[in-house]
Amino acid sequence: MILHVFESEGSLACAAAVIFAAQILRKPDSVIGLATGSTPLGTYGELVRLYEEGVLDFSRVTSFNLDEYVGLPKSHPESYYAFMHRNLFDRINIRDTHLPDGQAEDLTGECRKYDEAIRKAGGVDLQLLGIGSNGHIGFNEPSDRFVYGTNVINLTESTISANRRFFDSADEVPRRAVSMGIGTIMSARSILLLAMGAQKADAIKAMMEDEVDPRIPASILRTHPSVTVLLDKAAAGGLSL
Ligand code: PGA
Repeated sequence: MILHVFESEGSLACAAAVIFAAQILRKPDSVIGLATGSTPLGTYGELVRLYEEGVLDFSRVTSFNLDEYVGLPKSHPESYYAFMHRNLFDRINIRDTHLPDGQAEDLTGECRKYDEAIRKAGGVDLQLLGIGSNGHIGFNEPSDRFVYGTNVINLTESTISANRRFFDSADEVPRRAVSMGIGTIMSARSILLLAMGAQKADAIKAMMEDEVDPRIPASILRTHPSVTVLLDKAAAGGLSL
């Protein structure tokens, strides 16, 4: 793992955008894996800026998002579909974007179709990840085993309460999501994980310093040959290295 620690969220976001920019400049038809949540917002802002300044052209880029809530219509402002369009897709010239369909009648079939679509596109070149304070990546929650492919996940209470801030009432927070599996994520050729804030420090320490363990899903990344981790000082606060 390559680790960089930044003084500010702004410089971290800029560094993450530089890594994506290099990927897209080197391979204009890159397949990129994208994430939602608060963490990537600064990075998406920088990518929009690079597009507006004529540095980046996304017209041949394909994207696959990590996950989507089950049961939330695309039109709901907190669906990941709406999030991605608001924060990135509608502001750049990307055309070929994919998210799991959390409203599919046959969710198991949808999971299979999603992995197949990634495979057909040639696999993900660069996957962006955040991390949950419980160590989840995508929505792969702590468990006694790593789940391989895209799958339907029952969210843990800690994830449901972390997501509560986006919804009017606790009842509205979705309880399930479709998420790329650990194997899907690990199949990406390169991975870029971002974390900011002291609430991520324990998960980052466990990911980087403890044993590989499905109870900290992100710890599997230690076995991937090309992972870059960008942290702010607070998220790096628990590291003893
Ligand atoms: P966050 O979520 O970016 O909103 O902190 C990250 C995650 O839970 O994976």
